[in-house]
Amino acid sequence: MGLPSFVFESRRARVKASLPEGTVAIVAAHAEVTRSRDSDYPFRQSSDFWYLTGFLEPDAVLILRQDTPDCLVVRPNDPEAEVWTGRRLGPERVHSRLGIPEAYPLTELDTVLDKALSTAVRVDYPFDCIRSTRLVEAAFQRVRGQKRKQQLLSHRADLSVILHAHRQLKSPEEIDLMRRAGEISAKGHVAAMQQVQPGMTEDQLASIVEHTFRMEGSPSLAYQTIVGGGDNACILHYIDRTDRLRSGDLVLIDAGCEWHGYAGDITRTFPINGQFTGAQRALYDVVLAAQSAALADVRPGLSIRAYHETAVRVLTQGLLDLKILKGSLVEALDTKAYLPYYMHGTGHLLGLDVHDVGVYEQQGEPITLQPGMVVTVEPGLYLSKTSQAPARYRGIGIRIEDDVVVTETGHEVLTDAVPKDPEAIESLMRDHR
Ligand code: GLY
Ligand code: MN
Ligand code: MN
Repeated sequence: MGLPSFVFESRRARVKASLPEGTVAIVAAHAEVTRSRDSDYPFRQSSDFWYLTGFLEPDAVLILRQDTPDCLVVRPNDPEAEVWTGRRLGPERVHSRLGIPEAYPLTELDTVLDKALSTAVRVDYPFDCIRSTRLVEAAFQRVRGQKRKQQLLSHRADLSVILHAHRQLKSPEEIDLMRRAGEISAKGHVAAMQQVQPGMTEDQLASIVEHTFRMEGSPSLAYQTIVGGGDNACILHYIDRTDRLRSGDLVLIDAGCEWHGYAGDITRTFPINGQFTGAQRALYDVVLAAQSAALADVRPGLSIRAYHETAVRVLTQGLLDLKILKGSLVEALDTKAYLPYYMHGTGHLLGLDVHDVGVYEQQGEPITLQPGMVVTVEPGLYLSKTSQAPARYRGIGIRIEDDVVVTETGHEVLTDAVPKDPEAIESLMRDHR
């Protein structure tokens, strides 16, 4: 079940309550994007628009103001077009289905926007949304009188600031949806561990993960599935997936489904033939220790940077212990000697976008974790074939990534249904050979 319309109504009410009197807020849905000639990419709604309406058709526009009923402008019903491209809700059903009291067809968009702006003191829209920006700018051009136009132009504000602050803190209903996104994503990774065979292509293994998501009812991916065998695991966002998987190598899978818009984001790394080699296991244990130490630092009141610093410390100590780095821990941390092998952050906010909205810093200081924030915890080590690492460790890339909600007392891992303990992985793989 998706969220009922009153949830979206209360989100709109909260956003409106944060706006100064006389402000009109405008949020556009995404438009379709052409893939090739007359066929489009699968449509994905704008996350901001989805968050406020739950409406999944393209082209619509939401207009909010504290002292008037919420208003949605939608594609009109058109029986001929609907035969070709699918059913449309149409303005008549907006109120009963979405709980938005006023609705107009897109043919009246300019009139509706002009009327809303005619009495506006301030206009807010998400500055990072091209379509919202274009619609507002075009409406400003239609305003009569230079003085009035100037007045509106100098009273614009970025709605993202308020909207993204709300999106950064997830409600219990959102966390339920994210828990399901985590569960389904975990099933995809388990299926890959069970069904991988040396000789398969990376893309064939990706199809097993994605097939599982679809069979569990998730119609779309949160991002392009990454499957990298051997050295390809050292390419952080490797989406080519053209190579064959070789016995003796590890494979890294970073894949997550979308559930009612919310992203799962899991990475697991495991041996293609079911058994870690000594060198693989030594590095894997370092990454796993870093992840478990970092997870312990995901709790309310700690800085969002703390778990990254913890992961870096454990990874660096591990690289020193394995003689991949030389010198003391303090020195290696000071000079960031780990950077050739660990070049990304240890996590990000997660929600309707895989790299979700919300600030990481305020007044130059990292924010403090709060209950309701959802983050990933994803340390890794990447010792590519061309690296300076001792030969036995070259061509190995490892990342372990889970999705974690900050709770009142600590955290909850949403994605622990897929094993990451190396013996548990080997045992799961053995049981399915
Ligand atoms: N899947 C992208 C990331 O982990 O950030
Ligand atoms: Mn991630
Ligand atoms: Mn990921």
